[in-house]
Amino acid sequence: MADVLGPAPMSAGRIAMITGGGGDIGGAIAARLVPDGWTVIVADRDAAAARTVADALSADALSADTASPGARRVHARRVDVADPADVEAFVTAAATEFGRIDAVVCAAGIEPPQDLAAIDVASWDRTQAVNLRGPALIAQAALPWWTRQRSGSLVNIGSRTWLGGGHPGYAASKAGLVGLTRSLALELAPLGVRANAVAPSFVRTRFSEQRGDERMLHDYAERVRAATPMGELIRPEDVANAVAFLVSDESARITGEVLHVCAGSQLPLFLG
Ligand SMILES: NC(=O)c1ccc[n+]([C@@H]2O[C@H](COP(=O)([O-])OP(=O)(O)OC[C@H]3O[C@@H](n4cnc5c(N)ncnc54)[C@H](O)[C@@H]3O)[C@@H](O)[C@H]2O)c1
Repeated sequence: MADVLGPAPMSAGRIAMITGGGGDIGGAIAARLVPDGWTVIVADRDAAAARTVADALSADALSADTASPGARRVHARRVDVADPADVEAFVTAAATEFGRIDAVVCAAGIEPPQDLAAIDVASWDRTQAVNLRGPALIAQAALPWWTRQRSGSLVNIGSRTWLGGGHPGYAASKAGLVGLTRSLALELAPLGVRANAVAPSFVRTRFSEQRGDERMLHDYAERVRAATPMGELIRPEDVANAVAFLVSDESARITGEVLHVCAGSQLPLFLG
């Protein structure tokens, strides 16, 4: 491919972009990648949340690069993944600034707590735009860079609901995300770019607060824990460890997979 992207600026090591990076799972992923030497771009629609995560991590994440000693390795950016123009502008600006895109982690997500009777068109469309179209457009914007680099790793944060069901609009978006991930794995493989998904079960985060007040949340979490084969809830760090593996060279020939981080709750309950 002609080098239409211009000369690459000085390398800041391996570059990871995390959408939803201002959230609890996205923030845990950022915190997990920094000690592995990644330069991390924490991107979120909530710019203040992205900045809080980046600032909290920056003190421990100064560059050891002799060309730019002490340079920050965690950067906050604002992006609304439901806005195609915003996605294009964010990916292009970040890739141009940092010179490459080694890992893209799509963790931005929303879950309107609507059962079938409560579905409305606007929130259905918004859910698909954030959870499903967002990762597709992020990957599309990264494609020219991956074509030039001939390496890269995309990790989409799905959900156990793709398999087990949940709120219809949300579960449909996460099932679609598996189809998207597997399709991109095929299309990107010749470029040396991998695409995988991580599918967690319930994690207590700000995301879960929409399920109700503290007491309802506690009761819900306890029911999930009791029904989980390993009898444990998933922590954001568990999801981050799975992502760290999938963006690392240790998973160099793994693509098109869905890694369930569910303490066994993705398994059909077989009682005899
Ligand atoms: N918490 C759970 O139980 C759970 C379980 C399975 C999967 N997940 C998935 O994990 C991911 C992260 O969830 P979390 O629990 O950390 O939630 P969270 O609410 O803490 O984080 C989600 C982040 O996404 C951001 N976001 C929302 N819409 C956006 C948009 N249009 N553009 C950019 N950023 C946007 C929010 O500002 C927030 O910072 C989501 O994709 C979610 O579907 C969560």
